[in-house]
Amino acid sequence: MNKEAIEKELKSDWAGRNLWYYDEIGSTNDRVLELGEEGAPHGTTVVADQQNGGKGRRGRTWISPSGTNIYVSILLRPEFDVQKAPMLTLLMAYSVTEVLRETEGLDARIKWPNDIVLNKKKICGILTEMTMKESSIDYVVIGVGINVNNEEIPQELTQSATSLKLETGKVTDRSILLARILERFEKDYVAFVKAGDLSPFQNGYNRILVNKENQVRVLKPGNEYQAVAHGINHLGELMVEKEDGTRETVFAGEVSVRGIYGYV
Ligand code: BTN
Repeated sequence: MNKEAIEKELKSDWAGRNLWYYDEIGSTNDRVLELGEEGAPHGTTVVADQQNGGKGRRGRTWISPSGTNIYVSILLRPEFDVQKAPMLTLLMAYSVTEVLRETEGLDARIKWPNDIVLNKKKICGILTEMTMKESSIDYVVIGVGINVNNEEIPQELTQSATSLKLETGKVTDRSILLARILERFEKDYVAFVKAGDLSPFQNGYNRILVNKENQVRVLKPGNEYQAVAHGINHLGELMVEKEDGTRETVFAGEVSVRGIYGYV
């Protein structure tokens, strides 16, 4: 993977068009945050072969060795309301999963809201960060880490994480996969902006939702309960049914959901 190989493959209008490639960097999200401050345009993209400060959600680190995986962050300058920003993470999860399904032929699925799993183990994580100007969005950074060709998963993660190579036995061309993801996200983003919510994706997302009709544990601060997940609504909220039959919608920003038998 290198800048030329990605650019040669890429057939998008704006996603990845202002492309920055690094052999090594702290975090692609941090680099895009800097570029955002400098006024870089919508669609600016940073790709790295290796991160030495890769960031995961909830302050975790994202292990980012060289020569094997995809670490990419894209800058967006949406003109919509700030409440809609969390839906962008679900949108990216949907776009990446659909590419893995359609172009790689894999049974990749989404673990709500935005982890991507293959054979019940995580292969991709997404971290969205946002900067505001007064009460509106200044810019959004969506970072995607995909375990592509690495064969060494740290011991403590082997139950919950895997890579495309470990699951399929095949080496995947990272530049081609990345180009397809940027193209697909661009197309989905345009449809999302037009609709104003996730309604064009609701059915598709629910079809590939790994927790659909599964028992999940909803971990709301101060209020944990068990429920059955029925899929997302047009706002990306998870619709759950509690054991007493009452229904609730769960917003991605406020809770996490665990499977009752393990990671999924
Ligand atoms: C998660 O915890 O699941 C989210 C992981 C996000 C990792 C990606 S790798 C590219 C981008 N740069 C970062 O520092 N993090 C994201």
